[in-house]
Amino acid sequence: MNFGVELLNNLIKSPLNYIGGKYKILPQILPHFPNNIRIFVDLFTGGANVGINVDAEEIILNDNLIYLMEIHKSLFEISENNILSYIDKIINKFNLSLTNTEGYNKLRNQYNKLKNPLDLLILSFYSFNHQIRFNSNHNFNTPFGKNRSRYNDNIKKNLIAFINRLQQKNIVFMKENFDKINFSELTAKDFVYCDPPYLITVGTYNDGRRGFNGWNIEQEKNFLIF
Ligand SMILES: C[S@@+](CC[C@H](N)C(=O)[O-])C[C@H]1O[C@@H](n2cnc3c(N)ncnc32)[C@H](O)[C@@H]1O
Repeated sequence: MNFGVELLNNLIKSPLNYIGGKYKILPQILPHFPNNIRIFVDLFTGGANVGINVDAEEIILNDNLIYLMEIHKSLFEISENNILSYIDKIINKFNLSLTNTEGYNKLRNQYNKLKNPLDLLILSFYSFNHQIRFNSNHNFNTPFGKNRSRYNDNIKKNLIAFINRLQQKNIVFMKENFDKINFSELTAKDFVYCDPPYLITVGTYNDGRRGFNGWNIEQEKNFLIF
């Protein structure tokens, strides 16, 4: 792939505002990638800011946060119109706004019962710092981002661009721990991008208290060996 000016001017930002998201530094990262990639693996997908901006015959998006991967998969499989009208319907039904804590909490209860990935996407628009955090019972528990977080024109614009780009690509979705991915089929034409949690900081996705494996010195060492 040629990371020329055209591509770098046309970068897509994930609608998820993900902690550790690499959108801002894509112009520094992408020029280091090889041209003409056959299979591109985004091993720690997060908001998919990197995977969505790479051209390859096949893109594998993986993250062990299964509910996050379900959001990406839904955005790939459901039409743009149906996604946007579902969002509007839920915002109206729960009267979501910058200040309605009760509506947010009701949607959070609905999500924890039904686990509809689009409900989780909507919750992330309104949650504190747009965080996606689960407790050890796999219940989403990020508090409301009162007076700060909401679905606005900017998020909607990013969402539409993200859906369109995602749906143009040949994507395989996986929700595994990084060390469960089988790389034996990969060749010199393939490229694996790794953006694991950082050992020196604690994100809500790597503190080990969320019903998902945390990221600690053991994980870091295993990863380096891997
Ligand atoms: C720094 S974020 C990736 C951000 C992403 N590159 C972006 O630009 O949006 C790291 C991701 O690794 C995921 N993760 C943590 N431990 C993992 C593991 N053992 N296997 C796979 N993914 C893991 C987390 O859920 C998180 O989404």
